[in-house]
Amino acid sequence: MPLLTYQEARPWAKAIRQAVVLKKMPPWFAAAGGPFHNNPSLTTKEIETIEAWVEAGAPRGAGKDAPKPVRWQEGWNIPSPDLVVTAPKPFPVPASGAVDYQFLILPLRTLEDHWVTAAEIRPGARSAVHHIVAYIRDPDSPWLKDAPRNQAFRAEGVTTSDILAIYTPGQAPFVAPEGMAKKLRAGAELVLQFHYTPNGRAEMDQTSVGLVFTGKAPAKRVLTLQMGNAEFHIPPGDPNYRVTVGGTLPNDALLLSMFPHMHLRGKAFEYDLTAEGGRDETLLRVAPYSFQWQLNYILEQPRLLPKGTHLRWTAWFDNSASNPSNPDPAKDVSYGEQSWDEMMIGFFDVAVDPKLDKSAFFVR
Ligand code: HEM
Repeated sequence: MPLLTYQEARPWAKAIRQAVVLKKMPPWFAAAGGPFHNNPSLTTKEIETIEAWVEAGAPRGAGKDAPKPVRWQEGWNIPSPDLVVTAPKPFPVPASGAVDYQFLILPLRTLEDHWVTAAEIRPGARSAVHHIVAYIRDPDSPWLKDAPRNQAFRAEGVTTSDILAIYTPGQAPFVAPEGMAKKLRAGAELVLQFHYTPNGRAEMDQTSVGLVFTGKAPAKRVLTLQMGNAEFHIPPGDPNYRVTVGGTLPNDALLLSMFPHMHLRGKAFEYDLTAEGGRDETLLRVAPYSFQWQLNYILEQPRLLPKGTHLRWTAWFDNSASNPSNPDPAKDVSYGEQSWDEMMIGFFDVAVDPKLDKSAFFVR
């Protein structure tokens, strides 16, 4: 429900009080690390102001003080895009059942290299979209080389291609910090990966992606890296199963943001580093983890990770019957794409020397 005007918010007053007092809203799960640029949490004073407003009968304020509502449909959340690509035809999402991941390759027909400072994915049928990932497929990549273009198909498997942007509910679009950008080589294509979750109503989804270019060569190139573990088995009923993954950075990188990803049994996720002298530090702890909120935690200040820094991600899973989201506590759970299987991936955006690409870091 939109809460942009007094008329829209008024009927929800009691639910709003409840959501903000219990800190269910705005959604935010960082329990350590940061500070984070996109932390939307309300201050104690703001929460008290909302409580007092509801207790006073949720009165209307002075009209002249009201901000102008900005609605989702009214354009992009990034600056006006230089290039917009749209799925050539809508994809029919059925009312029920599971839909395999769908892929759609959109050629961009760019004749020169571009630097992308912002990118946004706009689904057509938001309520049926669990996530969309937009990958940059370099022209010489063997990945999906012979797949059809401009039409949806099913595919599996992994790629080393860079990620341009991710859409999940509540996710901010990709906006690079000043002087930084993602590289789009001449002839590159976008590969969109769709995870649809049928919601009881048949929907047609026609997604667009908007890209903002800069003419200036950036001082840093932004790469989306990931470290994950796909070799785990979570025993039935285990309330606190721990999975880790680690690696040593082969080159200097500026850490920009972190995006932990698990499924319904995800309980907590932590990003830690060990600096050269052996000192441990927590970069981000997400606890409790909620599958419903796939959020990106953007650092207020980029953080230098010198070459040789050891990175370690830890995930905890709750496969017990006390986890209300658990689809089946009797199951031995391993890696898989659907929500009833599990994943353990820690994505992280870094800014690096513009001459480097993903092969200079963790490829997978
Ligand atoms: C101060 C800011 C916010 C207030 C007052 C607020 C208020 C609320 C309320 C009253 C509900 C209904 C809770 C219920 O069913 O009991 C709700 C649900 C929801 N809100 Fe917010 N919200 C805020 C910020 C946000 C933000 C920033 C996002 C997205 C990033 C968001 C996304 C949602 C979603 C997706 C739901 C449905 C969740 C569910 O059904 O579990 N809200 N919000």
